[in-house]
Amino acid sequence: MALFGKDEAQKASEQKANGGSEGLEREKLPRHVAIIMDGNGRWAQRRGMPRTFGHKAGVEALREIIRHSDDLGIEVLTIYAFSAENWKRSAEEVGALMGLLLEYFTKELDELNRENVQIRILGDIDGMPSGLERQKAALHAAIERTQKNTGLRLCIALNYGGRQEIVHAARQLARRVAAGELTPEEIDQERFAAELYTAGLPEVDLLIRTSGEMRLSNFLLYQLAYAEFYQTDTLWPDFNKDTYDEALLAYTRRNRRFGGV
Ligand code: IPE
Ligand code: IPE
Ligand code: MG
Repeated sequence: MALFGKDEAQKASEQKANGGSEGLEREKLPRHVAIIMDGNGRWAQRRGMPRTFGHKAGVEALREIIRHSDDLGIEVLTIYAFSAENWKRSAEEVGALMGLLLEYFTKELDELNRENVQIRILGDIDGMPSGLERQKAALHAAIERTQKNTGLRLCIALNYGGRQEIVHAARQLARRVAAGELTPEEIDQERFAAELYTAGLPEVDLLIRTSGEMRLSNFLLYQLAYAEFYQTDTLWPDFNKDTYDEALLAYTRRNRRFGGV
């Protein structure tokens, strides 16, 4: 079904068979990888299980991908964990996801911190519905506790929407203009990017979406301008370091032109 992803994934899979991560040219790896972790619900439903079972399995996949990113020396890993639109799901599913979130931060924070991982949240933490005070506190604590770490930068997009982020940035700039700190002419790409949740991070080089969907679902609309897009039919809970290596291998073979020739 994939227009361009599948042939490439097949090729990468064949070529990777004789090398594993060793076959990857390290100096060509992306600095910043973003992932739309999609397909948990379908993965569970195919097993006759409730969707939440898929979300639990998805956390396991995430652990492996974080570890592998760290091992490969990827600088920034940005993952789409919960969109601003995902609140539309049933109370049961949202509740389960928020439960997993809290469990994840409770269980994993020590280890992430030991591994020198710096955690950053992209999205509106304080705009999360009331009743999630423990989650909000855990998120703020994780950011604070890991802020001086110098290893992998793990950005978790949570209650995140790309359009909301752009509107928020515009509003911040408008406030500064109204306060007389800035003139409209001084607003340029650099100042605009500095108001986004991703301020200070390197450009996204590679966007991976699992589960075969070919859309952005309101993810990093500004930041993906020149990212390479890789999609795979693999459902997120089945995504592992080998399928990740395939995506990375495909990336190392792309010819990025940025409008040039
Ligand atoms: C991604 O899997 C996880 C979240 C959006 C939180 P989905 O839950 O979207 O799974 P599918 O796409 O319905 O299979
Ligand atoms: C995008 O997946 C959000 C996350 C992976 C967290 P969705 O499953 O919510 O996207 P749509 O609804 O298929 O576009
Ligand atoms: Mg989905």
